[in-house]
This record gives sequence, C-alpha cells and structure tokens, in this order.
Amino acid sequence: MAIKGLIGVLGGSGFVGSELCAQLVDAGYSIKLITRNIDKCRHLKVLPSLSIIQVNDFHANTLTSALKDCHALINLIGILNEKGSDGKEFHQIHVDITRAVLNACENAKISRLLQLSALNAHADGPSHYLRSKGKAENYLKTFSGPQVNYTIFKPSVIFGKGDSFLNRFANLLKTIPGVFPLACANARFAPVYVGDVAKSIVVSVDDKTTYNKSYELCGPNIYSLKELVQYTANICRYKRIVLGLPMFLSRLQATIFEYMPGKPFSKDNFNSLKLDSICSQCSPCTTSLQAIAPTYLDKN
Ligand SMILES: NC(=O)c1ccc[n+]([C@@H]2O[C@H](COP(=O)([O-])OP(=O)(O)OC[C@H]3O[C@@H](n4cnc5c(N)ncnc54)[C@H](OP(=O)(O)O)[C@@H]3O)[C@@H](O)[C@H]2O)c1
Repeated sequence: MAIKGLIGVLGGSGFVGSELCAQLVDAGYSIKLITRNIDKCRHLKVLPSLSIIQVNDFHANTLTSALKDCHALINLIGILNEKGSDGKEFHQIHVDITRAVLNACENAKISRLLQLSALNAHADGPSHYLRSKGKAENYLKTFSGPQVNYTIFKPSVIFGKGDSFLNRFANLLKTIPGVFPLACANARFAPVYVGDVAKSIVVSVDDKTTYNKSYELCGPNIYSLKELVQYTANICRYKRIVLGLPMFLSRLQATIFEYMPGKPFSKDNFNSLKLDSICSQCSPCTTSLQAIAPTYLDKN
C-alpha cells in the first residue's frame, strides 16, 4: 500500500489513541507519536510505520521541531479529572496545549489539524472540564488562519476494550455487594464505540468537506446512567440492585469521592453530568453497545 503521509499524534498512547494509531496505519499513513512517556507507548511499537518521540513539554517550539515533516496533526490530549479543583490544570492541558498545537502547525507548515473535544464542550459549560474543552474549540475556530484547516470531534462517552467508563463501573460493582448507590443516575448518554470514533477521524484527515467543521459523535442508542450500570452488572453476572441517589446525595458523594485515591468521582464530574451527553445532529457511528461490551466486560 502506498504511504499516504506522515501524521503527528498527540495523546496517542491512551485509550482512543491506541485504536486510532492502529486504524491510521491500516489506512496507509505513517505516524509520529509525541508522548511524555515512551514506556506508555510500548504496546504501539508493533505497528509498522510508527515512530515515537518523547518530549518534556508541550510548548510551541518543542512541538514545532518534533513535528517537522508531518502533513497533519491529531490532538487527543485530555484529562477527565485534575489534581486540584480550581480548573487550572484543565485550562493548561486543554486550552494552553491547543494554543501551542496551533502555533506549532503554523510554524511547521502543517495545514491540517484534527482535535478530539467532547460533547457539550462550551465556554459557558457547567464544569471546568467542559468549559476548558469549549475554550480550546473557540481558540481553534477564532485563530486558525487560512493556512491551517481544523476539524473538531465531539463524542459522547466512548466505550471499547480498555475504556475507563464501563470498566470503572465493573470494578466498583465487583467491590460493592448488594445495593449499588449511584449518583446522577438519570443522566443520559449515547455511548459511542472507540472503533467508530477512530474511523470518523481517519476518514476526515484528507477529506476537504470536513475542513473547519465540528462533528458530534454518538452511538445509535440512548441510555440513562442507571441503565448502563445495571447492564454492566448483568454482563459481569453480579447480582446488584442499582439505586439512583437523589441530587443532594449525588452531590455529597461527589464531594467525598473527590478526596479518595484516584478520584473515582468529583464535583467537576457531577457538574458535567448536569447535561445529557446526547447528540443534537445525526452521527455516523452505528456500532451498538450490545455488540461490543460483552466481549470485554465479561472478563472483569
Ligand atoms: N474516553 C471518553 O469517554 C471520552 C469522551 C469524550 C471525549 N474524550 C476525549 O478524547 C481524548 C482521548 O481520551 P482517552 O479516553 O483516550 O484518554 P486517555 O486514555 O487518558 O489518553 C489521554 C492522553 O492524553 C495525554 N495526556 C494526559 N495528560 C497529559 C498532560 N498533562 N500533558 C500532556 N499529555 C497528557 C496522554 O498522553 P501521553 O501520556 O502519551 O503523553 C494520554 O495518552 C481526550 O481529549 C478526552 O477528553 C474522551
């Protein structure tokens, strides 16, 4: 297969990045993976035409020299929780890095930039996470000049082998017998398969009709959080009753869990869940949860 071009990938060592890199290589692209930690990318070294560069910072100058020769750049960098709770780390990772990424594209003459954001991301959103993702989107829309064509992807929660959503609930369900108290149980999601998210990005790289546009990505079905957690329990064959907590207890659980190791739930997550994570437009992602989730949750 002819090599189509060299694509820089940031945040490629993670859940979505690993699937994306495999699909990019299958589609004939070469990849330059930029990471903070080369050891986290060991599982990707088997991919032909993938090289890895470790960087110590994500400033525009560092990225410019790391990314030279790339014809496109895909930015997947993101966090769901920050160490503090004032939004500073979200801003640094989502907004400041996006600014550096756009500057690096201009300096290194990379004309194509694809960014993974999130559904409901908005500068006036209810949580630090959603506001910082929204501000990063606004930065791209406002400051990408004629030499850089961006595309933004806004997925609902993403599922697939190695996800941190259903797998996290599977682990919690394992350790809590009987009744499982669930915060924000009525929040609604349209879970989207990681393979579909990666495919949407891959087919957009060289598709001019996607230039300077944003796309919401949702799976084919909508579920409440309670339905998703009960479904996870059923697949794992845990006999659990999922009990939705009222709002004030959900908020209390978020306040307490915020201080637990690994922050399993936070006030910022609670605020994000005030909005349903469902698409307002038609999405090309059709793989159902039922087709995939049993293949990996069953192993928990
Ligand atoms: N998973 C979901 O359900 C979901 C839903 C909506 C949107 N998203 C968005 O999709 C993107 C990918 O998500 P994911 O689930 O694949 O996340 P992930 O597995 O946690 O991977 C995120 C990547 O971000 C990089 N990263 C994290 N902190 C960083 C920091 N301080 N500085 C530089 N890089 C950092 C890491 O790359 P290195 O360690 O290699 O440097 C990591 O591989 C994120 O932007 C996320 O917000 C995810």
